[in-house]
Amino acid sequence: MVIKTLIKNLKKFASESLVTMTELVLPNDTNPLHNLMGGKMMHWMDIVSAISAQKHSNSVVVTASVDNVSFSSPIKLGNVVTLTAKVTRSFSTSMEVHIEVWAEDIPSGTKIKSNEAFFTFVAMDGNGNPKKVPELVPETEKEKNFYESAMRRRELRLVLAGRLKAQDATELRSLFKE
Ligand SMILES: CC(C)(COP(=O)(O)OP(=O)(O)OC[C@H]1O[C@@H](n2cnc3c(N)ncnc32)[C@H](O)[C@@H]1OP(=O)(O)O)[C@@H](O)C(=O)NCCC(=O)NCCS
Repeated sequence: MVIKTLIKNLKKFASESLVTMTELVLPNDTNPLHNLMGGKMMHWMDIVSAISAQKHSNSVVVTASVDNVSFSSPIKLGNVVTLTAKVTRSFSTSMEVHIEVWAEDIPSGTKIKSNEAFFTFVAMDGNGNPKKVPELVPETEKEKNFYESAMRRRELRLVLAGRLKAQDATELRSLFKE
């Protein structure tokens, strides 16, 4: 039993970190055009992805970075918003989480993907220091694609944050080679 728990804590399937969250857009969540405020959506995205990272790491987590978030179509007052989050890859103490946001108008039966993004979380120990996280095991084709491309996204965000020299971003550089 103890050994089983130890093995489980070293590696976890991507699917174990899946979180789905459903919200209703209320008047207080909207701008004067009766569309969902971008900040409110990012708040929900932060929560759903933090829970996903917590599930993978069995730890308290902090948001380390948020990649580009764009809003392709407005989400209307009264829409039902479904957010899903899943860890795509873990590194040493950090995890990349992919989030999808869907907006549904139940009376008209329409449901569209509003946006998606990648957030990065760091697992923290009881003393507020980063702690090691389990390795992530992708199973489906989509999970494997996200896992493979995660290293490039990590290098890009670390270069932009000034934590990695561009010449050391080997995965990124390989994209530009013949
Ligand atoms: C994120 C944080 C823990 C990093 O601390 P640090 O002292 O720089 O620690 P380290 O250098 O050991 O980095 C820890 C991990 O964070 C990652 N990280 C740090 N900054 C990052 C960034 N801008 N983007 C992506 N990952 C980042 C590192 O790559 C490392 O990951 P790895 O161990 O998997 O390689 C620290 O900056 C922090 O606490 N920030 C505030 C977090 C916060 O308040 N968030 C909002 C509310 S939850």
